[in-house]
Amino acid sequence: MKIVLFGKNGQLGWEFQRMLPILGEVISFDREELDLCDLDAVQKILSELKPNLIINASAYTDVDRAEKETDLAMKINALVPGMMAEMASKLRAVFIHYSTDYVFDGGKGSTYKENDPTHPLNMYGKSKLAGEENIKQAAHAYLILRTSWVYSLRGNSFVNKVLKWSRQNKTLKVVNDQVSSPTWARTLAEITSFVLAQNKMDLYENIHERRGVYHLAGSGFASRYEWAKQILVNDSNPSEQTIQTLEPALSADFPTPAIRPLFSALDCSQFEATFGLQLPGWNSTLQLAMTR
Ligand SMILES: NC(=O)c1ccc[n+]([C@@H]2O[C@H](COP(=O)([O-])OP(=O)(O)OC[C@H]3O[C@@H](n4cnc5c(N)ncnc54)[C@H](OP(=O)(O)O)[C@@H]3O)[C@@H](O)[C@H]2O)c1
Repeated sequence: MKIVLFGKNGQLGWEFQRMLPILGEVISFDREELDLCDLDAVQKILSELKPNLIINASAYTDVDRAEKETDLAMKINALVPGMMAEMASKLRAVFIHYSTDYVFDGGKGSTYKENDPTHPLNMYGKSKLAGEENIKQAAHAYLILRTSWVYSLRGNSFVNKVLKWSRQNKTLKVVNDQVSSPTWARTLAEITSFVLAQNKMDLYENIHERRGVYHLAGSGFASRYEWAKQILVNDSNPSEQTIQTLEPALSADFPTPAIRPLFSALDCSQFEATFGLQLPGWNSTLQLAMTR
């Protein structure tokens, strides 16, 4: 099987690079190798390589900057995935793409199911929802996996930010009114790879039969404050911490350009039932992720 991976240096893309070689030949791209803004170049590469599987781990993920860089966010999150999906159909390739809990407004009051009405509050959410629509129209065999609060132990993730802040401050305030499901990028890559491996025989037919939008995130949910608390508990070098107090705060205390939904945790039972898998709890996964 020939696999093309876009966004190889992102949190998710990096983890995919570890997993995908068990499935076949992997040709992966970062921004330097291929700027996704160049649609012709993306199209040309896919036409030349003729992959059986296209995984899009790339995205415009700066939620606040997307309020200003609307065109760019729309291009990377909606236009480009739509074109990739179109190419996947032409090549009879499976297309795997990721979306977000931010397609919801957070007002439901309980976990979101796939067919709950969408209503993004910010440009990032709007651009990702437009991407979903473009893919649904163009692709034949595709999975759109909506996930939430993705973290890894490399880069500028929330986990690394909390660890850094805990070494610079005595008091740390973290919002307690935003609730979702922290999801380790490695788990996301592993579970996706597992589903692909499970269906490897007749991958195109199998994914075509199960095509659609699924929710895939760490099981359970927490506020950012509760998440930060667990990050400090699982810190492998607690002696380096200067922090004495972790205080709950309100989103209103930290105004940001983009409005975030308050309760956007995802109900992943449809994914679990369809693929016969049980998603691990966000907290036990965090513990594993932070064990050195
Ligand atoms: N992070 C979250 O909390 C979160 C929550 C819900 C859903 N998701 C979704 O999950 C998926 C994976 O997210 P992630 O956290 O792994 O994202 P990430 O770490 O921000 O990685 C995205 C990658 O896309 C690349 N990219 C962006 N614009 C590009 C361009 N013009 N040309 C080439 N590459 C470009 C970035 O390259 P550079 O490194 O060069 O910028 C980066 O490597 C995305 O679909 C995202 O929307 C993420």
